[in-house]
Amino acid sequence: IHRYYKNVARYPPGPTPLPFIGNLLQIDKVNTHKCLERMSATYGPVFTVFLPRPTVIITKLPEIKEALIKKGDVFAGRPNSPIDTITSTFENGGIIFSWNELWRDQRRYAMHTLRNFGMGRNVMEEKIMSSVATLYGQVDELAHQDKADMNWPLQLCVGNIINELLFGYHFAVNDCAKSVYLIESVEKVFFRLRNRISVLLIQEYPWMRHLPVVGWQGYGEIREDFMKLIDFASEEITEHKKDLDYDAEPSTFTAAYLQEIRKREQNGNTDSYSELQLANVLTDFWSAGMETTATTMRWAIVLLVRHPEIQTKLQKEIDDVIGPNRQPKMADKTNMPYTSAVLMELQRKANIVPLNVVHKTLADTEVANLPIPANTTVLAQISSVLDDPESFPQPERFNPDRFLNADGKTFNATAVDHLVPFSLGKRQCAGESLARMELFLILVALMQRYSFSVPVGGQLPNMMPVYGVTQVPLPYECKITMRHQD
Ligand code: HEM
Repeated sequence: IHRYYKNVARYPPGPTPLPFIGNLLQIDKVNTHKCLERMSATYGPVFTVFLPRPTVIITKLPEIKEALIKKGDVFAGRPNSPIDTITSTFENGGIIFSWNELWRDQRRYAMHTLRNFGMGRNVMEEKIMSSVATLYGQVDELAHQDKADMNWPLQLCVGNIINELLFGYHFAVNDCAKSVYLIESVEKVFFRLRNRISVLLIQEYPWMRHLPVVGWQGYGEIREDFMKLIDFASEEITEHKKDLDYDAEPSTFTAAYLQEIRKREQNGNTDSYSELQLANVLTDFWSAGMETTATTMRWAIVLLVRHPEIQTKLQKEIDDVIGPNRQPKMADKTNMPYTSAVLMELQRKANIVPLNVVHKTLADTEVANLPIPANTTVLAQISSVLDDPESFPQPERFNPDRFLNADGKTFNATAVDHLVPFSLGKRQCAGESLARMELFLILVALMQRYSFSVPVGGQLPNMMPVYGVTQVPLPYECKITMRHQD
């Protein structure tokens, strides 16, 4: 016990932990980020909770910037345990859960290659709008019903954009069994990773994965779902290889990566570029790129149904700048300050990755003059920044105007600075530019053509989320109305 508390004293102060279980009994496992926000009021912006693994929580923007930007290289690690590596099929694989040179190289290569296919550039608009055309087809039909659920059309729309980049094809609307099955696997992995004590226990005590119930719930079941995604990626790789011309200009990320493997093999370079590594990278991009953006769009529907006055103002700006028929373009965004403010407030309020993804310190360091040893798990908690009443007065309100100055045209710099849904620093979301484009084009395309409201005899959608790694809205059916009859 003496040794345990001597070790506890090496970390920034926080609630007193118990040997073996740490602070597990004091943490709300469902609404974890709110519980940590409350603790921050007592212990300050940098404190430690033992879950039971020592985890340093950082809740305020200046301290998060000190860690993730100023000391970015030291905080760019990811923890390594059976659960942390569950989302890669070998240690230090893929991008999200890898670290050191391997991560740096794979991330740089992936982002460079995706940019060549248009990610973050205007040629991407066409790919997004082709997916929106399918979305229109589905939503036009839903508009004839008394009430409709937008979940599946949005998942398919966003899923097809990333599918196109990675594999070069769309899932057909009437052939959705495979995509439903894969999307459900992503949701289950994200949900289970976050909401289980068994996961936290195995992180600290890896031997527990061999115990029957704890091992299955905290490791086996999650791995089983994740392997479905790896199998899907591996099948796509096999299909690509069948007729791949290794000398031609690649048309998908998978083709480009396979050519890179061949090039390196020919140069006698047997480094980390392999088909297994490719399957991990594809799975990372597919799950991170699909779930997050689709979930944000689902919150958009919930929030706009709850706030018809904001919907009307948004539609007025769209009508003034784009009109009822012309396809929206990214270039329109500079003339649409209110729409931009709605998107910012949407990302703030939806707060879809409240706990962020865990980081690990790669050397002894300090934040706010508090020492943090090497190999410590660190949570730079985005949600407490997005909910901070000092920068966002009455944070529970959905209020796009908070991002605009009194002129209604320029942006409130403090609010914009505190909007960090994609995190910060070296690990900042690798798909941010694509996500921003998708959110703008899909939201504007939907609001240009439809209005969303409470169905006759129905209720306002609930703001209570389903908690997982991402916060997802509860299933909701709304009334969809076509705005223009032609
Ligand atoms: C990482 C948020 C969309 C790919 C992250 C992280 C957050 C995040 C908070 C963790 C950053 C950290 O560890 O500090 C979001 C949000 C999105 C979104 C809110 C949409 C609204 C996307 C899209 C893609 C993507 C569309 C792919 C095309 C990734 C990848 C990582 C990541 C690969 C891991 C980066 C690394 O570990 O180096 N994202 N993301 N994300 N995101 Fe996103």
